[in-house]
Order: sequence, then C-alpha cells, then structure tokens
Amino acid sequence: MTLKIAVCASGNGSNLQAIIDACAMKNFPAEIVCVISNKVDAYALERAKKAHIPSYAILPKDFEDRLAFEKALHAKMKEYNVDLICFAGFLWLVGAWFCEQWPNKILNMHPSLLPAFKGLHAPRQALERGVKIAGCTVHYVVEEMDEGAILAQTTVPVYSNDTEETLKMRIHYAEHQTFPYVIRAVAENRITWKGNNAYISS
Ligand code: GRF
Repeated sequence: MTLKIAVCASGNGSNLQAIIDACAMKNFPAEIVCVISNKVDAYALERAKKAHIPSYAILPKDFEDRLAFEKALHAKMKEYNVDLICFAGFLWLVGAWFCEQWPNKILNMHPSLLPAFKGLHAPRQALERGVKIAGCTVHYVVEEMDEGAILAQTTVPVYSNDTEETLKMRIHYAEHQTFPYVIRAVAENRITWKGNNAYISS
C-alpha cells in the first residue's frame, strides 16, 4: 500500500522537490497527497503546482489563535487521509494538541546533527562553534522544539574556507538524500523502537 504524505513547507521547498522526485520513481512506496504552506508566497507552493499536487496556503493570521490554525491544518490532513506528515522547512512550532493527534506520524528535517545546534541558523551555529562535521537529522516531531526520536542523520564535512552558504548547500544536498530514505523506511514499516529511541532496520 502506498503511504499518503502531506508535506508542510514555508520556503523554497528544495526538500519538497526531493520528495516529489523520489515519489516519481518507480516502486517508491509513498505519494504526496497535499502540500501545505503557512506562507502565501512560499516557492514550495509553485513546486507543488508544477507537480500537479493539491497545495494550500493556510495562514495563521486568518485564525483566532494558534490552536484554531493547527485545527485547520489537521482538518486538511484528515481530508486527504494522510498517513505521514513531513515538515520540510516548515517555520511553525506545533503545539501539544496537534502532536497528540499525530503521535509518531510527523517527521521534521533539521539542518544539524541533533541534539547539537537546535533552532534557527543551525549551519551558522556549526560554523561559529568550529565543528568539523556537520549534517542533517530527520526526527519525529514532539511538542518540544527539535526533540523527538531521531530516525536518521547524515554527516557532511566542514572545510576551513566554508561560508554559511557553502555549508548550507552541502547540508541541503545531504537532506535531499536523507528525507526520501526515511520516508521509504516508514512506508515499508522498517522503524523499530528500543525504549524512546527509533531505528531504521534493513
Ligand atoms: C532545510 O535546511 C531544513 O533542514 C530546514 O529548513 C530548510 C528548508 O529548505 N528545516 P528547503 O525549503 O527545503 O529548501
């Protein structure tokens, strides 16, 4: 059975594109059923349109409070019978209510090797700290920011002449391989748990 994914993105959507491209591959066990953005001008929405995927801008300012906004997000996911939600550059911290509706059903991509460098501008934080290995993390979303069980991490080197831009690009490239890898594992039921930790089995 094909896993139904919703992708939430606020910006450029290069991770969305990587997932679109993966889903277009023969025998990929997932499909994107809708793309949702909380920014009206997100390029991710254009990418969805080009790929003929239903896309929606659902804007927090149109709702009374954050819970009402998150209830609208949830309703859209239900409308499409979503199995898995992928946050791919989604600039929004979902609250307890939303997380409770989707336990271990939301993935987030973060541009660092968590638990290092949580929050914004992770590649910049990595450069400032002088680490020699950076990377990306796919983890389950829980209420606390950038917490939740880690599913996969990919490392990239940091070079002495890196700028924030060059490091970001290298991390992005790693992200584009890692997200589809994790989605495939979820779709193929290859996630196993040991206590609070999640692993992908082969
Ligand atoms: C990625 O670096 C991701 O790790 C972070 O936001 C960025 C989104 O990039 N959460 P894009 O919109 O997918 O190009």
